[in-house]
Amino acid sequence: MRQLHLPMRIWDAPTRLFHWALVILVFLCWLTHYKTWTELHFLSGYAVLALLLFRVVWGVIGSDTARFTQFLKNPLEALRHLSHLHRREPDLEVGHNAAGGWMVVVILLMLLAQVTTGLFNNTDDISEDGPLARFVGRENSNWFGHLHALNFKLIQLVILAHVSAIVLYFVLKGHNLVRPMITGKKRMPGAMPAPRMVHPVLALIVLAVAAGAVALFVRLVS
Ligand code: HEM
Ligand code: HEM
Repeated sequence: MRQLHLPMRIWDAPTRLFHWALVILVFLCWLTHYKTWTELHFLSGYAVLALLLFRVVWGVIGSDTARFTQFLKNPLEALRHLSHLHRREPDLEVGHNAAGGWMVVVILLMLLAQVTTGLFNNTDDISEDGPLARFVGRENSNWFGHLHALNFKLIQLVILAHVSAIVLYFVLKGHNLVRPMITGKKRMPGAMPAPRMVHPVLALIVLAVAAGAVALFVRLVS
Protein backbone atom coordinates (compact mmCIF):
# COMPACT_ATOMS: atom_id res chain seq x y z
CA MET A 1 0.00 0.00 0.00
CA ARG A 2 1.32 3.52 -0.87
CA GLN A 3 1.93 5.65 2.22
CA LEU A 4 0.18 9.03 2.49
CA HIS A 5 2.65 11.91 1.97
CA LEU A 6 1.94 15.29 3.53
CA PRO A 7 3.82 18.63 3.30
CA MET A 8 6.16 19.04 6.30
CA ARG A 9 8.07 22.23 7.22
CA ILE A 10 11.72 21.19 7.28
CA TRP A 11 13.54 24.57 6.93
CA ASP A 12 12.58 27.63 8.99
CA ALA A 13 12.40 31.05 7.31
CA PRO A 14 15.61 32.37 8.99
CA THR A 15 17.73 29.50 7.60
CA ARG A 16 16.27 29.95 4.10
CA LEU A 17 16.70 33.72 4.17
CA PHE A 18 20.24 33.25 5.50
CA HIS A 19 21.06 30.95 2.56
CA TRP A 20 19.75 33.17 -0.24
CA ALA A 21 21.15 36.34 1.36
CA LEU A 22 24.54 34.62 1.59
CA VAL A 23 24.38 33.67 -2.11
CA ILE A 24 23.64 37.29 -3.08
CA LEU A 25 26.30 38.76 -0.76
CA VAL A 26 29.09 36.39 -1.86
CA PHE A 27 28.27 37.32 -5.46
CA LEU A 28 28.36 41.02 -4.45
CA CYS A 29 31.77 40.51 -2.79
CA TRP A 30 33.09 39.12 -6.07
CA LEU A 31 31.40 41.84 -8.19
CA THR A 32 32.62 44.73 -6.04
CA HIS A 33 36.17 43.37 -6.15
CA TYR A 34 35.90 42.94 -9.94
CA LYS A 35 34.66 46.53 -10.36
CA THR A 36 37.15 47.80 -7.71
CA TRP A 37 34.34 49.33 -5.66
CA THR A 38 36.41 48.93 -2.48
CA GLU A 39 33.99 50.58 -0.06
CA LEU A 40 31.12 48.38 -1.24
CA HIS A 41 33.45 45.35 -1.18
CA PHE A 42 34.14 45.99 2.51
CA LEU A 43 30.43 46.58 3.24
CA SER A 44 29.34 43.33 1.57
CA GLY A 45 32.19 41.50 3.37
CA TYR A 46 31.00 42.89 6.74
CA ALA A 47 27.46 41.77 5.89
CA VAL A 48 28.79 38.24 5.18
CA LEU A 49 30.51 38.32 8.59
CA ALA A 50 27.25 39.32 10.33
CA LEU A 51 25.42 36.49 8.54
CA LEU A 52 28.10 33.97 9.54
CA LEU A 53 27.90 35.05 13.20
CA PHE A 54 24.12 34.75 13.01
CA ARG A 55 24.35 31.25 11.49
CA VAL A 56 26.78 29.99 14.15
CA VAL A 57 24.45 31.09 16.95
CA TRP A 58 21.37 29.80 15.07
CA GLY A 59 23.22 26.49 14.69
CA VAL A 60 23.15 26.22 18.50
CA ILE A 61 19.80 27.74 19.53
CA GLY A 62 17.80 27.59 16.26
CA SER A 63 15.21 25.16 14.87
CA ASP A 64 16.05 21.43 14.90
CA THR A 65 17.18 21.20 11.24
CA ALA A 66 19.45 24.26 11.63
CA ARG A 67 21.35 22.83 14.63
CA PHE A 68 24.92 21.56 14.21
CA THR A 69 24.29 18.76 16.71
CA GLN A 70 21.42 17.50 14.53
CA PHE A 71 23.18 17.44 11.16
CA LEU A 72 26.85 16.75 11.98
CA LYS A 73 27.12 12.98 11.86
CA ASN A 74 30.03 10.54 11.88
CA PRO A 75 32.18 11.28 8.75
CA LEU A 76 32.00 7.55 7.87
CA GLU A 77 28.24 7.91 7.61
CA ALA A 78 28.81 10.83 5.23
CA LEU A 79 30.98 8.60 3.01
CA ARG A 80 28.43 5.81 3.13
CA HIS A 81 25.76 8.30 2.15
CA LEU A 82 27.82 9.43 -0.86
CA SER A 83 28.33 5.81 -1.95
CA HIS A 84 24.51 5.59 -2.36
CA LEU A 85 24.40 8.65 -4.62
CA HIS A 86 23.52 6.61 -7.74
CA ARG A 87 20.61 4.80 -6.03
CA ARG A 88 17.07 6.02 -6.69
CA GLU A 89 15.37 5.88 -3.28
CA PRO A 90 12.66 7.96 -1.58
CA ASP A 91 13.80 11.27 -0.09
CA LEU A 92 13.16 10.83 3.65
CA GLU A 93 15.78 13.33 4.81
CA VAL A 94 14.54 15.88 7.37
CA GLY A 95 17.25 18.55 7.03
CA HIS A 96 20.82 18.12 5.75
CA ASN A 97 21.97 14.62 4.91
CA ALA A 98 25.15 13.20 6.50
CA ALA A 99 27.37 14.48 3.65
CA GLY A 100 25.57 17.82 3.23
CA GLY A 101 26.05 18.60 6.92
CA TRP A 102 29.83 18.58 6.55
CA MET A 103 29.60 20.65 3.39
CA VAL A 104 27.77 23.34 5.38
CA VAL A 105 30.60 23.52 7.93
CA VAL A 106 33.27 23.65 5.19
CA ILE A 107 31.47 26.52 3.40
CA LEU A 108 30.97 28.48 6.65
CA LEU A 109 34.62 28.06 7.73
CA MET A 110 35.97 29.02 4.30
CA LEU A 111 33.82 32.16 4.21
CA LEU A 112 34.98 33.04 7.73
CA ALA A 113 38.60 32.66 6.53
CA GLN A 114 37.77 34.88 3.53
CA VAL A 115 36.42 37.68 5.70
CA THR A 116 39.29 37.39 8.21
CA THR A 117 42.03 37.56 5.54
CA GLY A 118 40.13 40.47 3.91
CA LEU A 119 40.29 42.48 7.14
CA PHE A 120 44.13 42.31 7.00
CA ASN A 121 44.42 42.80 3.21
CA ASN A 122 45.61 46.02 1.53
CA THR A 123 45.03 47.72 -1.81
CA ASP A 124 48.64 48.78 -2.62
CA ASP A 125 47.69 52.40 -1.77
CA ILE A 126 45.14 52.45 -4.62
CA SER A 127 42.27 52.66 -2.19
CA GLU A 128 41.48 52.12 1.51
CA ASP A 129 43.16 49.10 3.20
CA GLY A 130 41.36 46.45 5.24
CA PRO A 131 40.80 47.90 8.77
CA LEU A 132 43.28 45.53 10.46
CA ALA A 133 46.07 45.87 7.83
CA ARG A 134 47.88 48.65 9.72
CA PHE A 135 48.31 46.38 12.79
CA VAL A 136 50.37 43.74 10.96
CA GLY A 137 52.73 45.69 8.65
CA ARG A 138 52.83 45.73 4.83
CA GLU A 139 54.64 42.41 4.33
CA ASN A 140 52.21 40.39 6.46
CA SER A 141 49.27 42.26 4.95
CA ASN A 142 50.47 41.23 1.46
CA TRP A 143 50.62 37.64 2.71
CA PHE A 144 47.01 37.91 3.92
CA GLY A 145 46.22 39.28 0.46
CA HIS A 146 47.63 36.14 -1.19
CA LEU A 147 45.57 33.97 1.18
CA HIS A 148 42.48 36.09 0.42
CA ALA A 149 42.94 35.51 -3.34
CA LEU A 150 43.79 31.79 -2.97
CA ASN A 151 40.94 31.07 -0.56
CA PHE A 152 38.47 32.70 -2.95
CA LYS A 153 39.59 30.30 -5.70
CA LEU A 154 38.95 27.39 -3.30
CA ILE A 155 35.55 28.86 -2.34
CA GLN A 156 34.58 28.94 -6.03
CA LEU A 157 35.51 25.24 -6.32
CA VAL A 158 33.51 24.33 -3.20
CA ILE A 159 30.47 26.28 -4.45
CA LEU A 160 30.77 24.47 -7.79
CA ALA A 161 30.83 21.13 -5.93
CA HIS A 162 27.86 22.27 -3.78
CA VAL A 163 25.71 23.19 -6.80
CA SER A 164 26.87 20.07 -8.74
CA ALA A 165 25.83 17.86 -5.78
CA ILE A 166 22.36 19.45 -5.82
CA VAL A 167 22.05 18.85 -9.58
CA LEU A 168 23.26 15.23 -9.12
CA TYR A 169 20.69 14.58 -6.38
CA PHE A 170 18.04 15.71 -8.84
CA VAL A 171 19.33 13.80 -11.88
CA LEU A 172 20.47 10.55 -10.20
CA LYS A 173 18.06 10.27 -7.26
CA GLY A 174 15.13 12.45 -8.39
CA HIS A 175 15.38 14.52 -5.16
CA ASN A 176 14.53 18.21 -5.47
CA LEU A 177 16.48 19.89 -2.65
CA VAL A 178 16.04 23.43 -3.99
CA ARG A 179 12.24 23.64 -3.59
CA PRO A 180 12.36 23.06 0.23
CA MET A 181 15.17 25.67 0.50
CA ILE A 182 12.72 28.14 -1.11
CA THR A 183 9.33 27.12 0.36
CA GLY A 184 10.58 25.45 3.56
CA LYS A 185 8.34 22.42 2.87
CA LYS A 186 8.84 18.88 1.64
CA ARG A 187 6.32 16.00 1.19
CA MET A 188 7.04 13.34 3.82
CA PRO A 189 5.26 10.18 5.01
CA GLY A 190 2.44 11.38 7.30
CA ALA A 191 3.63 9.27 10.25
CA MET A 192 7.02 11.02 10.50
CA PRO A 193 7.40 13.58 13.34
CA ALA A 194 8.01 17.16 12.18
CA PRO A 195 11.16 18.99 13.38
CA ARG A 196 10.71 21.59 16.11
CA MET A 197 10.80 25.19 14.82
CA VAL A 198 12.01 28.15 16.89
CA HIS A 199 10.12 31.48 16.63
CA PRO A 200 11.66 33.69 13.90
CA VAL A 201 11.63 36.75 16.20
CA LEU A 202 14.52 35.12 18.08
CA ALA A 203 16.41 34.92 14.77
CA LEU A 204 15.78 38.63 14.17
CA ILE A 205 17.22 39.44 17.60
CA VAL A 206 20.30 37.26 16.95
CA LEU A 207 20.81 38.88 13.53
CA ALA A 208 20.46 42.39 15.01
CA VAL A 209 23.02 41.59 17.73
CA ALA A 210 25.41 40.04 15.16
CA ALA A 211 25.10 43.07 12.83
CA GLY A 212 25.55 45.43 15.79
CA ALA A 213 28.69 43.56 16.95
CA VAL A 214 30.22 43.76 13.45
CA ALA A 215 29.36 47.49 13.13
CA LEU A 216 30.89 48.19 16.56
CA PHE A 217 34.02 46.21 15.72
CA VAL A 218 34.48 48.08 12.40
CA ARG A 219 33.98 51.42 14.16
CA LEU A 220 36.54 50.56 16.83
CA VAL A 221 39.27 49.41 14.43
CA SER A 222 38.72 51.87 11.53
C1 HEM B 1 27.51 31.64 -3.29
C2 HEM B 1 26.91 30.48 -3.51
C3 HEM B 1 26.40 29.57 -2.41
C4 HEM B 1 26.78 29.44 -1.11
C5 HEM B 1 27.89 30.20 -0.38
C6 HEM B 1 25.92 28.43 -0.51
C7 HEM B 1 25.99 28.02 0.81
C8 HEM B 1 25.14 27.12 1.41
C9 HEM B 1 25.09 26.83 2.82
C10 HEM B 1 25.99 27.47 3.88
C11 HEM B 1 24.10 25.92 3.02
C12 HEM B 1 23.63 25.38 4.36
C13 HEM B 1 22.38 26.14 4.77
C14 HEM B 1 22.21 26.17 6.27
O1 HEM B 1 21.99 25.13 6.89
O2 HEM B 1 22.34 27.26 6.83
C15 HEM B 1 23.53 25.59 1.74
C16 HEM B 1 22.51 24.70 1.54
C17 HEM B 1 21.84 24.57 0.33
N1 HEM B 1 22.10 25.27 -0.83
FE1 HEM B 1 23.57 26.58 -1.14
N2 HEM B 1 25.03 27.97 -1.44
C18 HEM B 1 25.29 28.64 -2.62
C19 HEM B 1 24.62 28.51 -3.80
C20 HEM B 1 23.54 27.73 -4.00
C21 HEM B 1 22.77 27.65 -5.22
C22 HEM B 1 23.06 28.43 -6.50
C23 HEM B 1 21.76 26.74 -5.01
C24 HEM B 1 20.69 26.30 -5.96
C25 HEM B 1 20.94 25.56 -7.00
C26 HEM B 1 21.90 26.25 -3.66
C27 HEM B 1 21.06 25.34 -3.07
C28 HEM B 1 21.18 24.89 -1.78
C29 HEM B 1 20.30 23.87 -1.22
C30 HEM B 1 19.15 23.17 -1.93
C31 HEM B 1 20.72 23.66 0.10
C32 HEM B 1 20.11 22.66 1.10
C33 HEM B 1 20.79 21.34 0.84
C34 HEM B 1 20.17 20.23 1.69
O3 HEM B 1 18.99 19.92 1.45
O4 HEM B 1 20.88 19.71 2.57
N3 HEM B 1 23.00 26.86 -3.07
N4 HEM B 1 24.16 26.36 0.78
C1 HEM C 1 33.10 36.67 1.68
C2 HEM C 1 33.70 37.83 1.70
C3 HEM C 1 34.72 38.26 0.67
C4 HEM C 1 34.99 37.81 -0.59
C5 HEM C 1 34.29 36.68 -1.33
C6 HEM C 1 36.10 38.57 -1.10
C7 HEM C 1 36.68 38.40 -2.35
C8 HEM C 1 37.79 39.08 -2.81
C9 HEM C 1 38.50 38.81 -4.02
C10 HEM C 1 38.15 37.71 -5.02
C11 HEM C 1 39.54 39.69 -4.12
C12 HEM C 1 40.60 39.77 -5.22
C13 HEM C 1 41.80 38.96 -4.78
C14 HEM C 1 42.93 39.01 -5.81
O1 HEM C 1 42.77 38.37 -6.86
O2 HEM C 1 43.93 39.69 -5.53
C15 HEM C 1 39.47 40.55 -2.97
C16 HEM C 1 40.35 41.60 -2.73
C17 HEM C 1 40.33 42.35 -1.59
N1 HEM C 1 39.47 42.21 -0.52
FE1 HEM C 1 37.96 40.85 -0.34
N2 HEM C 1 36.48 39.49 -0.16
C18 HEM C 1 35.65 39.34 0.94
C19 HEM C 1 35.67 40.05 2.11
C20 HEM C 1 36.52 41.09 2.36
C21 HEM C 1 36.53 41.89 3.57
C22 HEM C 1 35.59 41.71 4.77
C23 HEM C 1 37.51 42.82 3.42
C24 HEM C 1 37.95 43.91 4.36
C25 HEM C 1 37.15 44.59 5.13
C26 HEM C 1 38.13 42.61 2.14
C27 HEM C 1 39.20 43.34 1.64
C28 HEM C 1 39.80 43.14 0.43
C29 HEM C 1 40.92 43.95 -0.04
C30 HEM C 1 41.61 45.09 0.71
C31 HEM C 1 41.25 43.43 -1.32
C32 HEM C 1 42.38 43.93 -2.23
C33 HEM C 1 41.74 44.81 -3.27
C34 HEM C 1 42.74 45.37 -4.25
O3 HEM C 1 43.89 44.91 -4.33
O4 HEM C 1 42.32 46.28 -4.99
N3 HEM C 1 37.52 41.57 1.51
N4 HEM C 1 38.41 40.16 -2.18
